Amino acid sequence: RIELGKGYLVLPGMVDIHVHMREPGQEYKEDWRTGSRAAVKGGVTFVADMPNNKPPANTCERLAEKLRRAGEKSLVDFAFYAGFSENPEELLRCPELFVGGKLYPEELFSRSAAYFARLMAKLGKPLVVHAEDPSMFRESRGLPHSYARPPEAELSGVRRALRLCGEAGAWVHVTHVSTGAAVTELLSAKLSGLKATFDVTPHHALLTDSLYSTTLSRIAKVNPPLRGEADRSAVYSALARGLPDALVTDHAPHSPEEKASEDPPPGFPGLELALHLLLSEVLAGRLPLGVIDLYSSRPASLLGVEKGAIAVGMDADLVVVKREEWVVRGDEMVSKARYTPFEGWRLSTKTHAVFVRGRMVYAEGEFFEDARGSLRAPRGAPERWW
Ligand code: DOR
Ligand code: ZN
Ligand code: ZN
Repeated sequence: RIELGKGYLVLPGMVDIHVHMREPGQEYKEDWRTGSRAAVKGGVTFVADMPNNKPPANTCERLAEKLRRAGEKSLVDFAFYAGFSENPEELLRCPELFVGGKLYPEELFSRSAAYFARLMAKLGKPLVVHAEDPSMFRESRGLPHSYARPPEAELSGVRRALRLCGEAGAWVHVTHVSTGAAVTELLSAKLSGLKATFDVTPHHALLTDSLYSTTLSRIAKVNPPLRGEADRSAVYSALARGLPDALVTDHAPHSPEEKASEDPPPGFPGLELALHLLLSEVLAGRLPLGVIDLYSSRPASLLGVEKGAIAVGMDADLVVVKREEWVVRGDEMVSKARYTPFEGWRLSTKTHAVFVRGRMVYAEGEFFEDARGSLRAPRGAPERWW
């Protein structure tokens, strides 16, 4: 039972097109049950999952395996990206299993990147790129993580991605853009007519590398790294103007033990906070309410909802949000990664209830796994892989 009324806001379910659910292969970091709970708690009803599983999701068989696992456990709708390999033709057998291809920095600068890009172009799917140039990475022992991967490495990565876009005729989507220079480069590429899109994250818009000299240093390690104030502010302004094509969390959970270690892996969870970080900025008068579109309708249409490639927000994917002042605590997360670089932040909204395809899957801290029912088969479900 939910009560609507004063202080409640009904929004479309949020759409996060860059998450890592870690299953199969690294279920100790996250799995489809805990990861999709994190999504629901953050008002997210659809996620697109990255292929850097162990082993990578870069064949039809591995994507089909992920489909079975996610279909079995996920509380939210989902789609997958296909990972890079030297034999990507294999993916032509199962275009219905992925919504795009993904390139990591080393892959982006490999010889076969152009071939992978042409394959995605042929399929009419986006090539999602983590654009950093590994040749510009530096040894950062003792120095902040941002020193290891300077802003110029991102600009060089974006230029490489845009060349692929031009030469292979591919649609390139640069994800988690973290510097002002990269934003400018991408906007001018768009103006020149290239099929290039990009997204930004809440952490690059709201946090700076000053965290690398605090007790949150290990938790805040992420790639691309948190930047200086000038870059943070450039990303935030772009967001305020609605310039990116989407906002994504890059929900990248690792075990608390890993993150506490001497050399922690990059990434942290994001799904539980993103919507409420945005809405809290909106209520403080710093962002327009329209920014929510970047985390719902815009990414949905980007990945092809209209074409029926995936179905998002079509039949009552809804989130009901309430006003409530609260303080972010990592140990209250439902993700297996119970920590956050936003520790201690004061937020003004919480998720009250969530509906996926018209079924209530969450209300006031409770999850309704049974409500999934027909969710099992993803919409537009590729029968032969099921
Ligand atoms: O911080 C990151 N974590 N950046 C990436 O590109 C990968 C991700 C992960 O999978 O942990
Ligand atoms: Zn990345
Ligand atoms: Zn990622």
